[in-house]
Amino acid sequence: MSSTLFRTKKVEQSILDTEEPEHALKKSLSALDLTVFGVGVIIGTGIFVLTGTVAKNNAGPAVALAFVAAGVVCALAALCYAEFASTVPVAGSAYTFSYASLGELPAWIIGWDLVLEFALGTAVVAVGWSGYVRSLLENAGWQMPEVLSGPTAAEGFSFDILAAALVLVLTGILVLGMKLSARITSLVVAIKVTVVLVVIIAGAFFIKGDNYDPFIPKAQPVEAGQSLDSPLIQVMFGWAPSNFGVMGIFTAASVVFFAFIGFDIVATAAEETRNPQRDMPRGILGSLFICTALYVAVSIVVTGMQHYSRLSVDAPLADAFKATGHPWYAGFISFGAAVGLTTVCMILLLGQTRVFFAMSRDGLLPRFFSRVHPRYKTPHRPTILLGVIIAVLAGFTSLSELAELVNIGTLFAFVVVAISVIILRRTRPDLHRAFRTPWVPVIPILSVGASLWLMLNLPAETWVRFAVWMAIGFVLYFLYGRTHSRLARGQETKPEEVFKPGDGDTA
Ligand code: ALA
Repeated sequence: MSSTLFRTKKVEQSILDTEEPEHALKKSLSALDLTVFGVGVIIGTGIFVLTGTVAKNNAGPAVALAFVAAGVVCALAALCYAEFASTVPVAGSAYTFSYASLGELPAWIIGWDLVLEFALGTAVVAVGWSGYVRSLLENAGWQMPEVLSGPTAAEGFSFDILAAALVLVLTGILVLGMKLSARITSLVVAIKVTVVLVVIIAGAFFIKGDNYDPFIPKAQPVEAGQSLDSPLIQVMFGWAPSNFGVMGIFTAASVVFFAFIGFDIVATAAEETRNPQRDMPRGILGSLFICTALYVAVSIVVTGMQHYSRLSVDAPLADAFKATGHPWYAGFISFGAAVGLTTVCMILLLGQTRVFFAMSRDGLLPRFFSRVHPRYKTPHRPTILLGVIIAVLAGFTSLSELAELVNIGTLFAFVVVAISVIILRRTRPDLHRAFRTPWVPVIPILSVGASLWLMLNLPAETWVRFAVWMAIGFVLYFLYGRTHSRLARGQETKPEEVFKPGDGDTA
C-alpha cells in the first residue's frame, strides 16, 4: 500500500498533460506580466491592515524587523520555488512539484493545504477591502446598514455584502480569461504602488524621532488563561506567554507573513507563461524583492509618524496621516487600498482555481472540473464553484484568525517544496533546470528550518484548526482520490494524444 501512496507522477508526464487539447491553458504571460502579477497579489491586507495590529500588539517600531524576518523566510522559499517552477512549468504550484517528487499522498496533502490557503486568503482580503470601501462610503456620507456590514463591523447576524459581491464579480472576470485579468491587474497595481510610495515619501516628512524610542519595546507578560492564543513555541516549552521584546518580533513576523503571501502564486501561473524556464524565476524573485523593500520602508515611516501604541488597527496607514492633521492624504490612501486589494483578491482566487484544476486533471478531484472553456480557455467550472463558496465565506467571516490559518498552510507548503527540491535533485538529476537553487541542500534546509520556526510562533489554536482541516483532507483522499487518480487507473496522457498548436485552437 505504501508504494501506491507514494507513487510519483513523472515530470515529463506533468508537462505532457498540459498539452492535451481539452485541458490546455493559454500561454500568454511574460516575465513582466509575472512580476506585475506578483506585486499585484503580494501588497495587500498585510501592509495596509496588519502592520498597525502587530506594531501595536506585538513588536512596536520593530515591526520593520518582523517584515525583514518574514521576507528572509520567503526569499529562501522563493529560491526553492523558482527551481521547481522552472523545471515543472505546470499549473498547481507546490502541489505539482510534490507530485513529481514526494508522491501522491504528500501531493494531495499539499493541494488540499493550498486550497485552504487561497480560499481563506481570498476571503480575508475581500473582507479587508469591504472595510476600506465602507470607510470611503462613510466619508461620502453613506452608511452601510449594520446587517450588511459583516461580523467585524456588527453584532449578531450580519452578512458582508460588499465582500461577497467583490468575490462574485472577480469570479466573472476570471472566467472571461487571463489576458483581460492581466490588463486590469496592471492598472490596479500601478495605483497601489503609487499609494504605497506616497505613504513612504509624504510620510517621511512627518516622522518624529521620539516615536522610535524604544525601537524594540520591553517584553510584557500577557493575561493568564489564554494559553491556546499563545504561540505554540511558548506553550511547548512552558514559557510565560509574552508580547514585545525579541520574541515579539518573531510573533509579529509569523503574522505579517501574510503580507508576503502571493509570490508562490506566481509559480501557479507557470503553465500560462510563454517562457517559464527563463521568466518564472525572474517574476518570483523580482516581485518578492520589490515588496520587501516597500514594506520595510512603510513600516518605518508609519511607526515614526505615530507612536506604536496609538496606531489604528483598522486603517493604520490612512489614520497615521489623519493623526498628523492631513485627512486629504488619508482619503487618497483609503481609496488606493480599496483599489489595490481588488487585485490581491482576484489573484488569490486565480491561484486557488488553478490548484483545484490541476488536482482535478490528475483525477484526485472529479475530472469534470478540469475541462477548460472551449472559447475562453479558462477552467470555468472550478472558478465558478469556488468563487461562490468563497463569496459566502467572505460574507460571514472576520479577519485575524483566518489570516493565521492561511499563514500556517502556506508555511507548510514551503516546507514541502524545499524538501522536494532536495529529493528531485537526487531522483531526477537528469532534468533540465533553467533555474537552479544555489547551495543545495543548504538553502532548502535553511528554508525548512525558517518556515518551521515561523509556524511555531503561530498560536496553538491555529495549529489545532490546521490539523482538523488536514484530517478532513486525509479522509477525502482515501475515500475518493486514491482510487480515482489517473496514476491509479493508468490513464496518463499518451504522446499521440498531445495537442499540437494550431489544431482546433480557437484562441
Ligand atoms: N499578501 C497579500 C496581502 O497582504 C495576501 O493581502
